[in-house]
Amino acid sequence: MPRMSWIRGSVIALIIAVPIPSRAQAPPAPVEEVDAFIKSMPQTNPFSSEADVQQGRALFQTHCTYCHGANGEGGRGADLTAGIYRRGGRDPELYTSIRYGIPGTEMGPVRITDDEVWKVVGYVKRLGSQGLLEKAPGDPTAGHAVYQKSGCVNCHRIGNDGGNLGPELTDIGRRRGVKFLTESLAKPEADVPINYRGIQVVLKNGQTVTGTRLNRDDLSIQLRDTRDNLRSFLMDNVQEIRFDKPSLMPSYGAMNKKDFDDVVAYLNSLKGAQ
Ligand code: HEC
Ligand code: HEC
Repeated sequence: MPRMSWIRGSVIALIIAVPIPSRAQAPPAPVEEVDAFIKSMPQTNPFSSEADVQQGRALFQTHCTYCHGANGEGGRGADLTAGIYRRGGRDPELYTSIRYGIPGTEMGPVRITDDEVWKVVGYVKRLGSQGLLEKAPGDPTAGHAVYQKSGCVNCHRIGNDGGNLGPELTDIGRRRGVKFLTESLAKPEADVPINYRGIQVVLKNGQTVTGTRLNRDDLSIQLRDTRDNLRSFLMDNVQEIRFDKPSLMPSYGAMNKKDFDDVVAYLNSLKGAQ
């Protein structure tokens, strides 16, 4: 296969980035182009000797453990030990996810050579076939009840239910590992996704409005307040904008241990639509 040029790579990345309407009857053209691209490359990994996998492991340590954990158990990034991939687990599909990153998520393209990407693919497959599926210690069914009674639903959406102040959790168990979920509940301010940083707008009339920032230009600022209302203020009326409460989520570190473990198990069980 000819080495893919950088420009072609960028074009493909752009194609993948085009949002796909969820209710579309037939897949739109860009999806077909991505399919065609995937079909045009080697269908089985050309670098899959034991030495290649070991090199893939070293590359993984450098470029991926930051989000996926030292053993691929997940953290800020998905658990890779389950061998379940939303964008497909065939060699060319994994190659595409790793080469170009996953548009619309925190995972960006990796800066290594094409041959090295194949070696990483080999290691990722090995991780996924070890059956180390991370299991949270609690009981997901009991955790669902804890979720309901703790008011999580006011700020988070699962499927069609819930509020929008915090990130949607429909597939949180696939996107994040158990350790990250535990930390999200105990220390919400530790790792706040950029779109959900808390801000406070202090108005000249003395009123303070807290929420997450949606937009800002020279004339106005828009936010989603803590009651899930969209609000807009003219900068002329704004005295000050403060960022001293990075997360608007309360800490649940003081919850009793069983409820805490159960709600983590419930979150871990939310894998979204495959
Ligand atoms: C900045 C954090 C970050 C880094 C660095 C990162 N990833 Fe990811 N990765 C994620 C997140 C978040 C997801 C889940 C995306 C989603 O589906 O919403 C993910 C998903 C994946 C998936 C699953 C794709 C699927 O089809 O479900 C694979 C495979 C993967 N990453 C491999 C890697 C490899 C290999 C590297 C290193 C070259 C890497 N990632 C680096 C954050 C990261
Ligand atoms: C007052 C609103 C509010 C309540 C109540 C709330 N959250 Fe959150 N949550 C947020 C916000 C805002 C964020 C994003 C900032 C952050 O990561 O701390 C967040 C982040 C999270 C994350 C990390 C999501 C990600 O993609 O990184 C998880 C998991 C989570 N919340 C679970 C829960 C659970 C479980 C409960 C109930 C026990 C709960 N939240 C209650 C507002 C809330």
